[in-house]
Amino acid sequence: MQKIIEIKNLSYIYPDGTVALKDINLDIFKGDSIGMIGPNGAGKTTLLLHLNGILISNGSVKVCELPVNERNLDKIRQRVGLVFQDPDDQLFMPTVFDDVAFGPINMGLDSDRVRIKVDSALKFVDMEDYKDRIGHHLSFGEKKRVSLATIMSMEPDILVLDEPTGNLDLKHRKEFINLLKDMNITKIIATHDMNMVLSICSKVAIMDQGKLIAFDTTEKIFGNKELLAAHGLD
Ligand SMILES: Nc1ncnc2c1ncn2[C@@H]1O[C@H](COP(=O)(O)OP(=O)(O)O)[C@@H](O)[C@H]1O
Ligand SMILES: [Mg+2]
Repeated sequence: MQKIIEIKNLSYIYPDGTVALKDINLDIFKGDSIGMIGPNGAGKTTLLLHLNGILISNGSVKVCELPVNERNLDKIRQRVGLVFQDPDDQLFMPTVFDDVAFGPINMGLDSDRVRIKVDSALKFVDMEDYKDRIGHHLSFGEKKRVSLATIMSMEPDILVLDEPTGNLDLKHRKEFINLLKDMNITKIIATHDMNMVLSICSKVAIMDQGKLIAFDTTEKIFGNKELLAAHGLD
């Protein structure tokens, strides 16, 4: 099994002094599908932001053996695609096409290749008819799909999702879960959606107060009711 992400002694303090991560150690292997659960403020988002170098702590995170640092940022971001919790943080170009093309253009692809990547990413999320639409005018569910397409158009090795089903209604939630389920790619998903974890994650990490409390198979973690209850999860 190929170790695709290695996190060693990762601690992080925000500039205002808030201690958000405390000595996290975690190995992620190719093909893993990891659900990251824990109460609000546990540090889930802060941890995810370290995986593609939006936040950087010296030498604590490696992606495909590459240390996440300023120098490696371009390479890291081609491998690790992060879908933000709020799609308005992801979509900033005038049209859906421009947003989904942004990554491939930045990777230096010619316009024909860019168009192919955009078409296939939009087709994958079932949004191919929305190419010329204005991102900010879409519904929340549509924005979430386009956000996923902006990442998939770069064909990353690792997909990182922050609360992908939060604020989605039942129908869109189910559709989004099915979409993720079909993706044959390493996934790390921070979420409060236990049903989603059960249906798509093979491993679960519990975080609380900046610490990684437990990391094991979904079966073992969900079988340990006391552990879940101790961290406000059930
Ligand atoms: N930009 C920030 N500046 C200061 N503190 C922050 C910032 N973002 C998050 N925090 C704090 O860091 C801790 C972890 O937050 P976060 O990673 O967002 O947790 P989660 O995603 O599990 O809810 C919380 O105490 C939160 O208030
Ligand atoms: Mg969060």
